[in-house]
Amino acid sequence: MPASRLAGESLTAGYEGRRVLDGVDFRVEEGRVTVLLGPNGSGKSTLLKTLARTLTPERGRVLLDGREIHRYRTREVAHRLGILPQSPAAPEGMTVRELVGMGRFPHQRLWRQWSTEDERAVQEAMAIARVDDFANRPVDALSGGQRQRCWIAMVLAQETDLILLDEPTTYLDLKVQVDLLELLVRLAHEGGRTLLVVLHDLNLAAAYADVLVMMRDGRIEHHGSPEAVFTAAHLKAVFDLDAEVMRAPSTGRPICVPSLGAAAMPGPRQEVPA
Ligand SMILES: Nc1ncnc2c1ncn2[C@@H]1O[C@H](COP(=O)(O)OP(=O)(O)OP(=O)(O)O)[C@@H](O)[C@H]1O
Ligand SMILES: [Mg+2]
Repeated sequence: MPASRLAGESLTAGYEGRRVLDGVDFRVEEGRVTVLLGPNGSGKSTLLKTLARTLTPERGRVLLDGREIHRYRTREVAHRLGILPQSPAAPEGMTVRELVGMGRFPHQRLWRQWSTEDERAVQEAMAIARVDDFANRPVDALSGGQRQRCWIAMVLAQETDLILLDEPTTYLDLKVQVDLLELLVRLAHEGGRTLLVVLHDLNLAAAYADVLVMMRDGRIEHHGSPEAVFTAAHLKAVFDLDAEVMRAPSTGRPICVPSLGAAAMPGPRQEVPA
Protein backbone atom coordinates (compact mmCIF):
# COMPACT_ATOMS: atom_id res chain seq x y z
CA MET A 1 0.00 0.00 0.00
CA PRO A 2 1.41 3.46 -0.89
CA ALA A 3 2.52 5.66 1.98
CA SER A 4 0.11 8.11 3.56
CA ARG A 5 1.15 11.68 4.23
CA LEU A 6 -2.18 12.57 5.78
CA ALA A 7 -4.40 10.34 7.85
CA GLY A 8 -7.32 10.66 10.23
CA GLU A 9 -7.76 8.11 13.00
CA SER A 10 -11.11 7.59 14.73
CA LEU A 11 -12.19 11.14 13.93
CA THR A 12 -15.27 12.37 15.70
CA ALA A 13 -16.00 15.97 14.73
CA GLY A 14 -18.80 18.43 14.15
CA TYR A 15 -20.17 21.74 15.25
CA GLU A 16 -21.78 23.11 18.38
CA GLY A 17 -24.32 20.48 19.33
CA ARG A 18 -24.08 18.61 16.02
CA ARG A 19 -21.90 15.57 15.56
CA VAL A 20 -21.06 15.02 11.90
CA LEU A 21 -18.14 12.59 11.74
CA ASP A 22 -18.31 9.64 14.05
CA GLY A 23 -15.14 7.57 14.34
CA VAL A 24 -13.88 8.08 10.78
CA ASP A 25 -10.62 6.41 9.73
CA PHE A 26 -9.17 7.81 6.56
CA ARG A 27 -5.81 7.75 4.77
CA VAL A 28 -4.87 9.88 1.79
CA GLU A 29 -2.48 8.00 -0.48
CA GLU A 30 0.69 9.75 -1.54
CA GLY A 31 1.06 10.77 -5.18
CA ARG A 32 -2.54 9.94 -5.98
CA VAL A 33 -5.74 11.80 -6.71
CA THR A 34 -8.35 10.78 -4.16
CA VAL A 35 -11.87 11.97 -4.93
CA LEU A 36 -14.46 12.27 -2.19
CA LEU A 37 -18.11 11.89 -3.19
CA GLY A 38 -21.27 12.03 -1.15
CA PRO A 39 -24.69 13.67 -0.94
CA ASN A 40 -25.15 17.23 0.33
CA GLY A 41 -24.63 17.33 4.08
CA SER A 42 -22.86 13.96 4.25
CA GLY A 43 -19.77 15.46 5.91
CA LYS A 44 -17.26 15.91 3.07
CA SER A 45 -16.34 19.50 3.93
CA THR A 46 -16.28 18.63 7.62
CA LEU A 47 -13.79 15.85 6.91
CA LEU A 48 -11.59 18.14 4.79
CA LYS A 49 -11.63 20.86 7.45
CA THR A 50 -10.73 18.36 10.15
CA LEU A 51 -7.86 16.93 8.09
CA ALA A 52 -6.55 20.44 7.41
CA ARG A 53 -6.83 21.46 11.09
CA THR A 54 -9.42 24.15 10.36
CA LEU A 55 -11.74 22.21 12.62
CA THR A 56 -10.57 20.51 15.81
CA PRO A 57 -11.94 16.99 16.27
CA GLU A 58 -13.75 16.10 19.47
CA ARG A 59 -11.99 12.76 19.45
CA GLY A 60 -9.36 11.03 17.35
CA ARG A 61 -6.33 12.54 15.67
CA VAL A 62 -4.93 13.70 12.35
CA LEU A 63 -1.43 12.64 11.37
CA LEU A 64 0.53 14.81 8.95
CA ASP A 65 3.71 13.10 7.83
CA GLY A 66 3.41 10.76 10.79
CA ARG A 67 3.09 13.49 13.44
CA GLU A 68 -0.05 14.83 15.08
CA ILE A 69 -1.11 17.88 13.12
CA HIS A 70 -1.81 20.04 16.18
CA ARG A 71 1.87 19.79 17.13
CA TYR A 72 2.93 21.78 14.07
CA ARG A 73 3.12 25.55 13.91
CA THR A 74 0.60 27.16 11.57
CA ARG A 75 3.31 28.08 9.10
CA GLU A 76 4.67 24.53 9.06
CA VAL A 77 1.22 23.15 8.26
CA ALA A 78 0.83 25.74 5.49
CA HIS A 79 4.19 24.66 4.04
CA ARG A 80 3.00 21.11 3.68
CA LEU A 81 -0.73 21.39 3.11
CA GLY A 82 -2.87 23.75 1.03
CA ILE A 83 -6.65 23.81 1.22
CA LEU A 84 -9.25 25.43 -0.98
CA PRO A 85 -12.39 25.68 1.16
CA GLN A 86 -15.89 25.51 -0.30
CA SER A 87 -17.19 28.99 -1.29
CA PRO A 88 -14.30 31.15 -0.08
CA ALA A 89 -14.74 34.94 -0.07
CA ALA A 90 -12.02 37.40 -1.07
CA PRO A 91 -11.60 40.69 0.81
CA GLU A 92 -13.42 43.49 -0.99
CA GLY A 93 -11.45 45.11 -3.78
CA MET A 94 -8.55 42.65 -3.64
CA THR A 95 -7.01 42.07 -7.06
CA VAL A 96 -6.42 38.66 -8.59
CA ARG A 97 -2.64 39.05 -8.29
CA GLU A 98 -2.93 40.02 -4.61
CA LEU A 99 -5.18 37.04 -3.86
CA VAL A 100 -2.88 34.58 -5.60
CA GLY A 101 0.04 36.21 -3.77
CA MET A 102 -1.62 35.30 -0.46
CA GLY A 103 -0.68 31.71 -1.30
CA ARG A 104 2.95 32.74 -0.73
CA PHE A 105 2.36 33.73 2.91
CA PRO A 106 3.97 30.57 4.39
CA HIS A 107 7.12 31.19 2.35
CA GLN A 108 7.72 34.69 3.62
CA ARG A 109 9.69 35.76 6.63
CA LEU A 110 9.84 39.04 8.47
CA TRP A 111 13.32 39.65 7.16
CA ARG A 112 12.66 38.27 3.71
CA GLN A 113 9.86 40.03 1.95
CA TRP A 114 8.54 39.37 -1.55
CA SER A 115 11.18 37.47 -3.57
CA THR A 116 11.72 36.54 -7.20
CA GLU A 117 10.81 33.00 -6.11
CA ASP A 118 7.44 34.27 -4.87
CA GLU A 119 6.94 36.18 -8.12
CA ARG A 120 7.74 33.07 -10.20
CA ALA A 121 5.32 30.91 -8.20
CA VAL A 122 2.51 33.47 -8.55
CA GLN A 123 3.10 33.92 -12.29
CA GLU A 124 3.18 30.16 -12.84
CA ALA A 125 0.04 29.54 -10.80
CA MET A 126 -1.83 32.33 -12.61
CA ALA A 127 -0.79 30.91 -15.99
CA ILE A 128 -1.85 27.36 -15.08
CA ALA A 129 -5.24 28.50 -13.75
CA ARG A 130 -5.56 30.90 -16.71
CA VAL A 131 -6.23 33.99 -14.66
CA ASP A 132 -3.25 36.02 -15.89
CA ASP A 133 -5.40 37.91 -18.41
CA PHE A 134 -7.26 39.60 -15.58
CA ALA A 135 -4.49 39.67 -12.99
CA ASN A 136 -5.05 43.31 -12.07
CA ARG A 137 -8.83 43.25 -11.78
CA PRO A 138 -10.64 43.00 -8.45
CA VAL A 139 -11.70 39.42 -7.70
CA ASP A 140 -15.22 40.52 -6.71
CA ALA A 141 -15.76 41.96 -10.20
CA LEU A 142 -15.19 38.62 -11.98
CA SER A 143 -17.60 35.90 -13.07
CA GLY A 144 -18.17 32.90 -10.79
CA GLY A 145 -15.92 30.62 -12.85
CA GLN A 146 -13.13 33.22 -13.20
CA ARG A 147 -13.23 33.76 -9.43
CA GLN A 148 -13.05 30.03 -8.74
CA ARG A 149 -9.93 29.83 -10.95
CA CYS A 150 -8.30 32.61 -8.89
CA TRP A 151 -8.72 30.55 -5.72
CA ILE A 152 -7.26 27.50 -7.45
CA ALA A 153 -4.29 29.66 -8.50
CA MET A 154 -3.86 30.80 -4.88
CA VAL A 155 -3.63 27.21 -3.65
CA LEU A 156 -1.21 26.29 -6.46
CA ALA A 157 1.00 29.29 -5.62
CA GLN A 158 1.41 27.86 -2.14
CA GLU A 159 3.35 24.98 -3.78
CA THR A 160 2.51 22.37 -1.16
CA ASP A 161 2.86 18.63 -1.67
CA LEU A 162 -0.58 18.03 -0.20
CA ILE A 163 -3.55 19.79 -1.77
CA LEU A 164 -7.14 19.57 -0.49
CA LEU A 165 -9.79 21.04 -2.77
CA ASP A 166 -13.43 21.34 -1.74
CA GLU A 167 -15.56 21.42 -4.89
CA PRO A 168 -12.98 23.20 -7.05
CA THR A 169 -15.06 22.71 -10.21
CA THR A 170 -18.11 24.65 -8.98
CA TYR A 171 -19.07 27.34 -11.51
CA LEU A 172 -16.59 26.07 -14.10
CA ASP A 173 -17.76 25.23 -17.60
CA LEU A 174 -17.26 21.61 -18.60
CA LYS A 175 -14.12 22.21 -20.67
CA VAL A 176 -12.47 24.08 -17.81
CA GLN A 177 -13.50 21.31 -15.38
CA VAL A 178 -11.83 18.72 -17.61
CA ASP A 179 -8.70 20.89 -17.95
CA LEU A 180 -8.54 21.29 -14.16
CA LEU A 181 -8.85 17.56 -13.51
CA GLU A 182 -6.19 16.82 -16.15
CA LEU A 183 -3.95 19.28 -14.33
CA LEU A 184 -4.61 17.69 -10.94
CA VAL A 185 -3.75 14.23 -12.28
CA ARG A 186 -0.50 15.60 -13.77
CA LEU A 187 0.38 17.25 -10.45
CA ALA A 188 -0.03 13.88 -8.76
CA HIS A 189 1.43 11.47 -11.30
CA GLU A 190 4.25 13.64 -12.66
CA GLY A 191 4.82 16.02 -9.76
CA GLY A 192 4.36 13.54 -6.92
CA ARG A 193 1.75 15.73 -5.24
CA THR A 194 -1.03 14.25 -3.13
CA LEU A 195 -4.55 15.45 -3.83
CA LEU A 196 -7.84 15.06 -2.03
CA VAL A 197 -10.69 16.56 -4.02
CA VAL A 198 -14.42 16.84 -3.32
CA LEU A 199 -16.49 16.63 -6.51
CA HIS A 200 -20.17 16.37 -7.30
CA ASP A 201 -19.85 15.28 -10.92
CA LEU A 202 -19.95 11.49 -10.62
CA ASN A 203 -18.67 10.72 -14.10
CA LEU A 204 -15.73 13.10 -13.92
CA ALA A 205 -14.90 11.67 -10.50
CA ALA A 206 -14.90 8.12 -11.85
CA ALA A 207 -12.87 9.21 -14.87
CA TYR A 208 -10.06 10.95 -13.03
CA ALA A 209 -9.82 9.47 -9.53
CA ASP A 210 -7.05 7.05 -8.64
CA VAL A 211 -8.94 6.38 -5.43
CA LEU A 212 -12.65 6.97 -4.98
CA VAL A 213 -14.31 7.47 -1.61
CA MET A 214 -18.04 7.62 -0.95
CA MET A 215 -19.42 9.20 2.24
CA ARG A 216 -22.89 9.10 3.69
CA ASP A 217 -24.18 10.43 7.03
CA GLY A 218 -20.68 11.22 8.31
CA ARG A 219 -19.31 7.78 7.55
CA ILE A 220 -17.05 6.44 4.83
CA GLU A 221 -19.07 3.79 3.06
CA HIS A 222 -16.72 2.82 0.22
CA HIS A 223 -13.04 3.45 -0.41
CA GLY A 224 -11.05 1.94 -3.28
CA SER A 225 -10.53 1.91 -7.03
CA PRO A 226 -13.22 3.56 -9.19
CA GLU A 227 -13.99 0.14 -10.64
CA ALA A 228 -14.72 -1.29 -7.19
CA VAL A 229 -16.49 1.74 -5.72
CA PHE A 230 -18.47 3.14 -8.64
CA THR A 231 -21.26 0.57 -8.94
CA ALA A 232 -25.01 0.92 -9.42
CA ALA A 233 -25.60 -0.66 -6.00
CA HIS A 234 -23.31 1.85 -4.25
CA LEU A 235 -24.84 4.82 -6.10
CA LYS A 236 -28.25 3.66 -4.95
CA ALA A 237 -27.18 3.09 -1.34
CA VAL A 238 -25.14 6.29 -0.97
CA PHE A 239 -27.05 8.78 -3.15
CA ASP A 240 -30.42 7.01 -3.45
CA LEU A 241 -29.78 7.36 -7.18
CA ASP A 242 -31.14 4.88 -9.71
CA ALA A 243 -28.57 4.70 -12.47
CA GLU A 244 -27.09 2.35 -14.99
CA VAL A 245 -23.33 1.99 -14.75
CA MET A 246 -21.36 1.11 -17.87
CA ARG A 247 -17.83 1.50 -19.20
CA ALA A 248 -16.75 4.54 -21.15
CA PRO A 249 -15.71 3.22 -24.58
CA SER A 250 -12.45 5.18 -24.80
CA THR A 251 -11.14 4.85 -21.24
CA GLY A 252 -12.83 1.76 -19.82
CA ARG A 253 -13.70 3.81 -16.73
CA PRO A 254 -17.15 3.42 -15.19
CA ILE A 255 -19.77 6.01 -16.12
CA CYS A 256 -23.33 6.31 -14.96
CA VAL A 257 -26.51 7.26 -16.74
CA PRO A 258 -29.22 8.24 -14.25
CA SER A 259 -32.63 6.64 -14.71
CA LEU A 260 -34.86 9.57 -15.48
CA GLY A 261 -38.51 10.12 -14.69
CA ALA A 262 -41.53 9.95 -16.95
CA ALA A 263 -41.11 13.54 -18.13
CA ALA A 264 -37.87 12.60 -19.89
CA MET A 265 -39.32 9.58 -21.67
CA PRO A 266 -40.01 9.64 -25.40
CA GLY A 267 -43.58 10.41 -26.36
CA PRO A 268 -45.74 13.08 -27.88
CA ARG A 269 -44.52 16.47 -26.75
CA GLN A 270 -46.75 19.42 -25.94
CA GLU A 271 -46.75 21.88 -28.78
CA VAL A 272 -44.98 25.04 -27.66
CA PRO A 273 -46.71 28.09 -29.11
CA ALA A 274 -44.40 30.04 -31.43
N1 LIG B 1 -20.63 25.75 10.53
C1 LIG B 1 -21.55 24.82 10.76
N2 LIG B 1 -22.30 24.86 11.90
C2 LIG B 1 -23.24 23.92 12.17
N3 LIG B 1 -23.49 22.86 11.36
C3 LIG B 1 -22.79 22.77 10.22
C4 LIG B 1 -21.79 23.73 9.87
N4 LIG B 1 -21.24 23.37 8.68
C5 LIG B 1 -21.89 22.25 8.31
N5 LIG B 1 -22.80 21.88 9.23
C6 LIG B 1 -23.67 20.69 9.19
O1 LIG B 1 -22.85 19.54 9.18
C7 LIG B 1 -23.35 18.55 8.29
C8 LIG B 1 -22.26 18.20 7.28
O2 LIG B 1 -21.95 19.34 6.52
P1 LIG B 1 -20.78 19.37 5.45
O3 LIG B 1 -20.59 20.80 5.07
O4 LIG B 1 -19.60 18.64 5.96
O5 LIG B 1 -21.45 18.53 4.25
P2 LIG B 1 -20.94 18.30 2.76
O6 LIG B 1 -20.89 16.83 2.55
O7 LIG B 1 -19.71 19.08 2.51
O8 LIG B 1 -22.17 18.88 1.91
P3 LIG B 1 -22.19 19.72 0.52
O9 LIG B 1 -22.14 18.71 -0.59
O10 LIG B 1 -23.54 20.39 0.56
O11 LIG B 1 -21.07 20.68 0.50
C9 LIG B 1 -24.61 19.15 7.65
O12 LIG B 1 -25.71 18.63 8.34
C10 LIG B 1 -24.47 20.63 7.90
O13 LIG B 1 -25.72 21.24 8.03
MG1 LIG C 1 -19.26 20.67 1.35
